[in-house]
Amino acid sequence: MIEIRDIYKGFEGKPVLKGINFIIPPGKTTVIMGRSGCGKSVLLKIILRLLIPDNGSIIFEGQDITNLKESKVNEIRKRIGMLFQGSALFDSLTVWENVAFPLIEHSKLPYNEIDSRVKKLLEFVELPEAMRKTPGELSGGMKKRVGLARALISNPDFIFYDEPTTGLDPTTAARIMQLIIRTTENFSATSIVVTHDIICAMAIGDSFAFIDDGKIVFSGNEKELLSAEVPELQKFLDDAVPQSVFKRFSASRKNEK
Ligand SMILES: Nc1ncnc2c1ncn2[C@@H]1O[C@H](COP(=O)(O)OP(=O)(O)OP(=O)(O)O)[C@@H](O)[C@H]1O
Ligand SMILES: [Mg+2]
Repeated sequence: MIEIRDIYKGFEGKPVLKGINFIIPPGKTTVIMGRSGCGKSVLLKIILRLLIPDNGSIIFEGQDITNLKESKVNEIRKRIGMLFQGSALFDSLTVWENVAFPLIEHSKLPYNEIDSRVKKLLEFVELPEAMRKTPGELSGGMKKRVGLARALISNPDFIFYDEPTTGLDPTTAARIMQLIIRTTENFSATSIVVTHDIICAMAIGDSFAFIDDGKIVFSGNEKELLSAEVPELQKFLDDAVPQSVFKRFSASRKNEK
């Protein structure tokens, strides 16, 4: 379990997160939603301790990691697989090298074991043929899949996804969602997905949180999400969901009332 306690973070005097309190339950997929620029990526980076909060703490399986030594934080990071918003692949390395990177850096596994794990994961993300390519030769969707393979290479207990479907066409996005669902089934990990893609959120989430003006203004399950009377969330849903899908949402909202 990860507990996010009263997190504040601002940049150059401009507050972004203004007291985030939230619990990430184990073994589930928690989706954190909110408008572009509301601080979703910042929050993920704070949980990973890549950014230090101005106030508040992150309790990781009972341990406060906010002021933990970097060496101890690295131990925790090894248990987390992260799919970064821009995939964050190394352009000069091949796909094989990118996926193998965390094991080459942080493990003493023999080459054969690393090679077999990389190949297995590239099969899993349906990209075995791209092994010798460099990121420059890949499409955005392919890069996300390589990023996912790299995130999974250390068999993480936690998987963080930052905007896994943003910028992809609907078919490629659906393929990534399918992969995330399969990942959840195969790896039984605790997942956090940060997105402003409501369709992605609904497809893969067990529970949902919505950030507005630096605070969590809603958290709950799918049923609660669809019936929530939180104006900022309702506006977000109204703006984000295509009309055809939205009709179903409103129908189900009306049924709630
Ligand atoms: N390292 C940084 N230095 C200064 N400002 C930053 C930094 N990182 C983030 N910010 C600012 O914090 C705010 C929140 O950024 P963040 O990337 O978390 O948004 P987001 O919710 O992930 O948006 P998107 O949906 O577009 O990815 C933005 O105004 C951004 O400019
Ligand atoms: Mg972001």
